[in-house]
Amino acid sequence: MSARPKLLLVGVVAVAAAASASCTDPVRDAAVAELGPEDPNVPPGPDHRPGQPCLLCHSENGVASDSPMAVAGTVYTDKDGKKGLADVEVSFVDARNGGPIEKIVTSDSGNFFVPVAKWSPPGLSYPFRVAIVKDGKVLQAMASTVNREGSCNYCHRPPDAPSSLTDEERKRRFTLPVYAGSP
Ligand code: HEC
Ligand code: HEC
Repeated sequence: MSARPKLLLVGVVAVAAAASASCTDPVRDAAVAELGPEDPNVPPGPDHRPGQPCLLCHSENGVASDSPMAVAGTVYTDKDGKKGLADVEVSFVDARNGGPIEKIVTSDSGNFFVPVAKWSPPGLSYPFRVAIVKDGKVLQAMASTVNREGSCNYCHRPPDAPSSLTDEERKRRFTLPVYAGSP
């Protein structure tokens, strides 16, 4: 009676270890392949891959798992998603009234990101609310909450973001890019 649960537990641990040791996740690999290669003119860093779902790579078991992010995305000047908007704040409130420990501001490409270690209390608690803010004024706020996905661009995707998808597939799968509208 007492030996059996122990054996079961050992089995479960062994399976979990085997799963994490292998780095192949066909679904993730396919999603990464869809994004296409790096832009040769932009080194991997804060401004690379604008418009793309950052956490696909910047999370556990992703190709950039050494720089894991709680949330990340890109803000554009308008709905066309052609030009990134620098110097706007992206503000968050999660389910525990938590958020980034420092002000999150978009860089030249419009990209922003919050490293996992810079969320307080530790560990983003879904759902969260998000808004684009400039000089204390809300430019755009997402009416609904984000319930489980930290990559804004998982849903918001500019038509010009590098991708191997066809235009029809993009229209079916994605909503407008995140944009700040006219201030
Ligand atoms: C297809 C995979 C992939 C996507 C998508 C991706 N990145 Fe990266 N990123 C990498 C790799 C690979 C590196 C270089 C290795 C590393 O830092 O882990 C990198 C590096 C970075 C770095 C430097 C990290 C450091 O600690 O030096 C930042 C910042 C960054 N990316 C931000 C972003 C943002 C913001 C997005 C989304 C707009 C994004 N990345 C999308 C793969 C990706
Ligand atoms: C699961 C899909 C999804 C994710 C992830 C998501 N959004 Fe949204 N977002 C939507 C949808 C759908 C709307 C339109 C309805 C609404 O406002 O709730 C929207 C609307 C918005 C708006 C209002 C204006 C506009 O551009 O349409 C902003 C701003 C916004 N989102 C920002 C963000 C940011 C920043 C992130 C990442 C931190 C994010 N969203 C993540 C689906 C998503």
